[in-house]
Amino acid sequence: MILIDGREAAAKLKKEIAREVAAMIDSDMKAPHLAAVLVGDDPASQTYVSSKEKASRAVGITSSIYRLSAKTTEKELLDLIDFLNKDEEVDGFIVQLPLPNHINVERIINAIDYRKDVDGFHPMNVGKMVLGEPSLISATPRGILYLLETYKIETKGKNVVVLGRSNIVGTPMSILLSRKAPNGDATVTLCHSRTQNLKEITLKADIIIAAIGQPEFLKGNMVKEGAVVIDVGIHRIDDEKAAKGYRLTGDVDFKAVSKKTSHITPVPGGVGPMTIAALLKNTLLAAKK
Ligand code: GUN
Repeated sequence: MILIDGREAAAKLKKEIAREVAAMIDSDMKAPHLAAVLVGDDPASQTYVSSKEKASRAVGITSSIYRLSAKTTEKELLDLIDFLNKDEEVDGFIVQLPLPNHINVERIINAIDYRKDVDGFHPMNVGKMVLGEPSLISATPRGILYLLETYKIETKGKNVVVLGRSNIVGTPMSILLSRKAPNGDATVTLCHSRTQNLKEITLKADIIIAAIGQPEFLKGNMVKEGAVVIDVGIHRIDDEKAAKGYRLTGDVDFKAVSKKTSHITPVPGGVGPMTIAALLKNTLLAAKK
């Protein structure tokens, strides 16, 4: 069994990005600038945004964070997006999700200039991705493609099962893997909460992407011998035996599933670091446009 090391792959990608940023500065261009908007004080979102800031700085990308109160109105947030759309200093920005319930997420995403939408969530970027046109692609699926490529995992003609149909991961992942492209050409089955006979389907998969949002959902008896398993989930679950009283786990029952796989991503240290590296790559692409 080969453990897919997301930290190592992300470090390699970040090194390439740092080299490109340095070359831009050498030719008298400004450094790319990534802004993040954080509304409210959700602890997980705070951690994500801080990690993005730290990772940006490490590769020479300028980073700024706009921290807004949980009581911010939709109008105030739309005004900030309008400001960032027009700000020539900013090449790309993200609005960290989830947003407070009184704010309409769709309206917010639609308001972002798609050329600065480094999350790849805007309908224009999603539409271009579906058509196979150059676009900013959602960071987690992009990071997963990069991991498959790094570990030379063939997707052409393979049976891939994607668990979960979120707009951020499952849906774009299913499209990217089925496209006629070097990292595509797979036969993809997208499974979700209404899927029947799930185990029968996952047992036929050469590659499983677990993005269902439930701790240790994918069990050992759902995976065939020699499959590749990519775990997108990250959950904190209580564990008396752990020093902190909790441990991190993914959407995969790692202990049982890893006994059968040819390759598997750990949690943490698998998909997570790649997501941030892919976001930096999108920022670089947005800055070069
Ligand atoms: N919340 C969880 N993941 C993400 C992400 O990739 N982008 C944004 N904007 N919010 C998130």
